[in-house]
Amino acid sequence: MDDKIIAVINQKGGTGKTTLALNLAAGLAQRASTHLVDADPQRSISQWVEMAPSGASLPPVASLGSDPFATIVQLARTHRYVVVDCPPAVQGEVVAAVMRSVHVVLIPVLPSPVDLWASVAMAAAVGGARQLNPGLRACLVLNQMESRNALSHDLRDAVAEFDVPVLQACMQRRAAYRSAAVEGTSVYGLGKRAQTAVADIEAIIEEVLCL
Ligand SMILES: Nc1ncnc2c1ncn2[C@@H]1O[C@H](COP(=O)(O)OP(=O)(O)OP(=O)(O)O)[C@@H](O)[C@H]1O
Ligand SMILES: [Mg+2]
Repeated sequence: MDDKIIAVINQKGGTGKTTLALNLAAGLAQRASTHLVDADPQRSISQWVEMAPSGASLPPVASLGSDPFATIVQLARTHRYVVVDCPPAVQGEVVAAVMRSVHVVLIPVLPSPVDLWASVAMAAAVGGARQLNPGLRACLVLNQMESRNALSHDLRDAVAEFDVPVLQACMQRRAAYRSAAVEGTSVYGLGKRAQTAVADIEAIIEEVLCL
């Protein structure tokens, strides 16, 4: 499989960026050398990794230096996979530099048309970033899906109108994601009780590695 630098971005807060970034990196780390990058001044993902008990074996996390582009490109020289957790922002130098340096942008969205439309600026930002990074791939990742219902008609229509495609794989709403954060580990570190969450993340990884 090719090297991949992946950024998890959405200007809307609380859509699951840090949850996806951490668990994605944990799954990728089981395949090959993986490094996290914390591009968010809230430092959520750094704190998650710092508070991990020894043995949780989460991937290492770097903060962005004064030159975000150089930081990411440098890490990608020594690691097969780099995953960047971004702040809830779409504008600004940091997010622009991240979008210039990555292969793939994943945009976690909550499964409602309202939340989807709140992310519409992301599609425009990806379009803008492609002027400097023409190979940039971008996908929406539905998060907090309820297992009972498939996509509602409204949501299906909203997704179809979006310029950015949606991954087939998604994250269901599961207690395991919250437990992993509370316990300072990934869903992989929770063992059997997080099997279904691990299956979500594995399906996302398999799809992303084929992009
Ligand atoms: N699939 C899920 N199932 C259950 N809880 C989830 C799921 N995804 C995220 N959460 C919870 O939702 C909350 C917000 O998630 P998270 O912090 O990952 O969002 P974020 O987009 O990084 O937020 P911010 O914009 O503040 O950086 C957290 O408490 C997280 O544990
Ligand atoms: Mg976050």
